[in-house]
Amino acid sequence: MALSRALIVALLTATIFPTISMATDFIVGDGKGWTVGFDYQTWAANKVFHVGDKLIFEYSTGEHNVFKVNGTDFRNCTVPAASQGLTSGEDVIVLETPGRKWYLCGVGDHCQNGQKLFVNVLPSETQAPSPSPLSSVLPVTVPRSPSPAPWSSPSSSPVLSKYRWVPRKLIAMFQP
Ligand code: CU
Repeated sequence: MALSRALIVALLTATIFPTISMATDFIVGDGKGWTVGFDYQTWAANKVFHVGDKLIFEYSTGEHNVFKVNGTDFRNCTVPAASQGLTSGEDVIVLETPGRKWYLCGVGDHCQNGQKLFVNVLPSETQAPSPSPLSSVLPVTVPRSPSPAPWSSPSSSPVLSKYRWVPRKLIAMFQP
């Protein structure tokens, strides 16, 4: 029974999880964090961002900051008023709407030196959840009580005798 229960859990997990959105936390720049001398466009290029995901900008407080800007300011590295910046050193931005988002560092010439990030945010993946996953999955995945294996009784072993027979038959086929 323990095996059956484990099987059910595994099947339920495999079946239901694709329909559940797991919001992703992206640490911008991964181990490098938010800094100069890092190519954030390459970092973002192989990632898919969805509404509900988080961008986490990690840096030493005071060395950098984070500003959300528009596309023109991104291109020109135009830094908004300081009051609009994030400065905690671990700034978490929840991607709340789909579309293009631009971020830059407003310290010195960091933006000109590549400390800027553009991401395109896709709609949330949670748009079409299965209405009742348990009721649709359980009848399929609950196994019947296992019938006794044919080889469990020593008096009858149809499987073994069958396999003992086959090789002899095959050998006979290859004999002249
Ligand atoms: Cu900076």
